[in-house]
Amino acid sequence: MEFFTVQDAAAAGAVGAGFLAAVIRSNPDAVLGVATGGSPLPVYRSLAGYGLEMSRIRCFALDEYVGLPAGHPESYAEVVRREVTGRLGLNPANVFVPDGSAADPERAACDYEAAIAACGGIDIQLLGIGHNGHLAFNEPGSALDSRTRVEVLAERTRQANARYFDSPRDVPERCITQGLGTILEARQLLLVVHGADKAEILHRALTGPVSADCPASVLQRHPHVTVIGDEGAAALMGRATTPGTAAPVAVGAGAAGTGPGR
Ligand code: F6R
Repeated sequence: MEFFTVQDAAAAGAVGAGFLAAVIRSNPDAVLGVATGGSPLPVYRSLAGYGLEMSRIRCFALDEYVGLPAGHPESYAEVVRREVTGRLGLNPANVFVPDGSAADPERAACDYEAAIAACGGIDIQLLGIGHNGHLAFNEPGSALDSRTRVEVLAERTRQANARYFDSPRDVPERCITQGLGTILEARQLLLVVHGADKAEILHRALTGPVSADCPASVLQRHPHVTVIGDEGAAALMGRATTPGTAAPVAVGAGAAGTGPGR
């Protein structure tokens, strides 16, 4: 695992975009995994500036709310359409989001998992981390080998995401999320984290025990992980580095072990 500390969210976006651009340049048929939420937005903005040819790039979102009507502006399908497909000029037919308005969401989750496999798996997966350690919407208690499925959102996650809705009550209670086992199958993982409010959970995830109590700790089990934190998020992670000027901090694997999980 390599860890880069950069000054702020915009710098994290620039560095993250550089990693994605390298994958896209080396493989015009690459499969990208994309995250929503605030953390990856500077990455998409910066990547758009590269003007790369992306007509054959395929994208899979990490997750989607269950129960929002199709076209709801805060559905991840719409967020991905605005922030990723539109901004990067991707072919909409190549961009996939779990179907959160399906009559049978469990079935939609299985179909989504199969669609990722049918594309040959994800080359690089962009990730954020929740304050409770969630990765995608794998909330604490998720099995470390879980697959794409319907998950109940933690109250803390619903509170955090209430900022996107008119009322906290409007935040859906369930979602479809790629599983932790699904995410671990991506060939490269890229975690982008901003803000001092994430410092403690980031440190716990990367240096604490690997446990279902902190789903993002599963990152320690992946052979190719890059973490980009701004100064606030990286505050507990040791010495700061900037790509191009110094070697990144290598973060050692944490203790093995799993908690109970779904
Ligand atoms: C979003 C996702 C979530 C977010 C996490 C952090 O697709 O899977 O895990 O990455 O909730 O969200 P922000 O970046 O808004 O702090």
